[in-house]
Amino acid sequence: MATTRIQVGIIGSGPAGLLLAQLLDKAGISSVILERRDRAYVEGRIRAGVLEQGTVDLLNEAGVGERCAREGMVHKGCYISIQDERFEINFEELTGGKHVVVYGQTEVTKDLINARLACGGDLRFDCENVAIHDIESDKPRLTYLSAGEPHEVVCDFIAGCDGFHGVSRQAMPASLLRVYERVYPFGWLGILAEAPPVMDELIYARHPRGFALYSMRSPKVVRHYIQCLPDTDPEDWPDERVWDELRLRLPKGDQDKLVTGRVFEKSVTPMRSFVAEPMRFGRMFLAGDAAHIVPPTGAKGLNLAASDVHYLRNALVSYYKTNAMDGLDGYSTQALARIWKAQRFSWWMTSMLHNFGPQDDFDSRVRGAELAYVLSSRAGQTSLAENYVGLPF
Ligand code: APR
Ligand code: PHB
Repeated sequence: MATTRIQVGIIGSGPAGLLLAQLLDKAGISSVILERRDRAYVEGRIRAGVLEQGTVDLLNEAGVGERCAREGMVHKGCYISIQDERFEINFEELTGGKHVVVYGQTEVTKDLINARLACGGDLRFDCENVAIHDIESDKPRLTYLSAGEPHEVVCDFIAGCDGFHGVSRQAMPASLLRVYERVYPFGWLGILAEAPPVMDELIYARHPRGFALYSMRSPKVVRHYIQCLPDTDPEDWPDERVWDELRLRLPKGDQDKLVTGRVFEKSVTPMRSFVAEPMRFGRMFLAGDAAHIVPPTGAKGLNLAASDVHYLRNALVSYYKTNAMDGLDGYSTQALARIWKAQRFSWWMTSMLHNFGPQDDFDSRVRGAELAYVLSSRAGQTSLAENYVGLPF
């Protein structure tokens, strides 16, 4: 069996695993990434696209911020509409100059993979049956098959960055793990289309027909979503039906501005909130979707993966400098404190903006009143803006 000895073994080459590897590399800490899928699959996954400044800063630190700085679109605010009334939330004014950058997660992943390969970093695709061993010893191991051949990685620490369906969370003893979950009674039907964005900011639209989001990816590509039933088959939604429904849910004053174009991606995202605690077992640490999922309202998924990676990188750097475990011992508590705040924000945005169905009348009125209050109060708007641009790491 081929054996690799390395400091950190990382499972998963999503944004969490790739960013961690690059940041460790800058700190002189060696790592290998084991990814189950092939490169084209990883680079083709479509996800959200709003980056907090803290995430952009980490990309820069990792040496991969150049294309994002060139192509990313700075957004100084967003719009929220309640039926036909549209309100502006001006992030810069409310937060002392902070903003977000619209840059697709797909592009972040491509930039990270290119950087990893360019610096000769160890990134292995098509790793089958990745398994974790000896987590409680000081030399944990990973085994896997590559083209049918067995391989082994012996390391000091394991980073479980393998997403919601990965093996790392499953490798934790059930008696240790506590899971918190909420599944929402709806999903988002999303499209990517070749059309120029006509709005200067994103529109989050609350409407009796259901939520809609007007978003964008570049000067030539728009990204839109409409609330749908969780088991919706995208095949039942021909392009014209999506455009018509989106138009109906936008404020009247914006409906005629909508420019349609060739739809080249259409899919349904289920909506859930999920947190697994703790994010550590022995010498294995979870980061990103492996430990938590947020509903996409507010676009916190990638940003939370980035803040986990920031804390984990700091803890590993401190270990290799001092040989003391304090930083790593504190990782889970530190990461979870920020995760729960982002969970609260994503849940809050989701509950204020969606239609939960007719059987939910009282709650639905209260949720509507909450949104109306937030939009009418500077304190309410500031709270929304502060969370949207990202709480400090
Ligand atoms: N072995 C190896 N790799 C695995 C395994 C496994 N058993 N299981 C999953 N993986 C890989 C997946 O193929 C994927 O490439 O782990 C990677 C996990 O990546 P993501 O799902 O993108 O998770 P993460 O890096 O935490 O990124 C979080 O992605 O889902 C969005 O909203 C989320 O934006 C957030 C970001
Ligand atoms: C997106 O553009 O994909 C997007 C934007 C904002 C969100 C969610 C998704 O809240």
